[in-house]
Amino acid sequence: MYIVPLSFRSFIVFIVFTVSYISHKSSYSVLLELSHYFYGLPLLILATMTTSIGEEINAATRSLHTPLNRRILVLLPQALPPKTRTPTLYGYGLSHFLPIYHTFEFCFRSILNSPSTPSRAGTFLRKLYIPELERTQKLRADLTKLLGCKITAGMEIGGPWRQQQSFMTHIRTSTNEKPHLLIAYTWILYMALFSGGRHIRARLLSAGPKFWGVEEEDPPLSFWTFPSSTDGEDLKTLYKAQVLELSTSLTELERKEIVAEGVEIMSTMLKLVDEVDELSNPYKLTPRGRELSLPEEQTPPLLKRLSNLFK
Ligand code: HEM
Repeated sequence: MYIVPLSFRSFIVFIVFTVSYISHKSSYSVLLELSHYFYGLPLLILATMTTSIGEEINAATRSLHTPLNRRILVLLPQALPPKTRTPTLYGYGLSHFLPIYHTFEFCFRSILNSPSTPSRAGTFLRKLYIPELERTQKLRADLTKLLGCKITAGMEIGGPWRQQQSFMTHIRTSTNEKPHLLIAYTWILYMALFSGGRHIRARLLSAGPKFWGVEEEDPPLSFWTFPSSTDGEDLKTLYKAQVLELSTSLTELERKEIVAEGVEIMSTMLKLVDEVDELSNPYKLTPRGRELSLPEEQTPPLLKRLSNLFK
């Protein structure tokens, strides 16, 4: 007789499946019922039984995340003292991401509210929609303060920002065709703010209120903060629990597509950061340490475009 060593995970899966078979209930409802008796246990069990689609995205994008993270850490000091005296370069760089968040959140809300969205995808997306995570309004408010003008219009104006423009088109078409791909967008564009985002925010804050042009009120860094007493940790936990829960009902094909989209988003992020770097060259310091003062005809195109929108 052989004794087959069972891992804890297989043991839990075995118990839940046996109970669900005997009681003719789905394994998910068995877990839900358990929650009446043992608070928090079902989530623990679910975590043991399921690999979150988010973790799969993380594993598939790890090799892209490392160079992205390094690149940003090299670029960030260029937008801060002592390399520059004003937050213009930071505002300029950040403005590149406003159309991205705008497009993604616009698609998310439209698909969520559209009667033609298949009910299965609608169920996934309703679980993931947490209004406090939305970033477009925050980004817009920060940029208004940073660049000293009001952004009122949409952002779909052509320009030489090839990566940005083609990514916006890609977001629209891919999420329209396959709404479940929005799971990859929410994971990467929101969870990034809780990991690297915390580090970036600390570096930005270290520049001090004088740099940000504020005395008592908050610096224009609301993009990096969340409206909750725990600095957004509660929102992150809620979001991750929802992702974990919906991971149990994804098909193998949906999982593959979501992970592939995650890889696409992360590699586009790298290209976007390169594009920001290239387009913000005129704002960098001269070798003698002076900020460039540009004649009108050399104003960088992105800033020109934004200033048209600020009216
Ligand atoms: C556009 C830039 C970035 C994107 C899109 C991004 C995206 C992500 C995502 C999706 C995660 C997984 C979150 C989770 O599992 O909770 C993550 C984790 C992480 N990121 Fe980033 N990130 C970016 C930049 C950075 C930067 C600049 C740093 C440098 C400090 C950084 C440091 C980290 C760390 C330390 C983790 C946690 C790793 C772990 O728990 O295994 N990220 N990032």
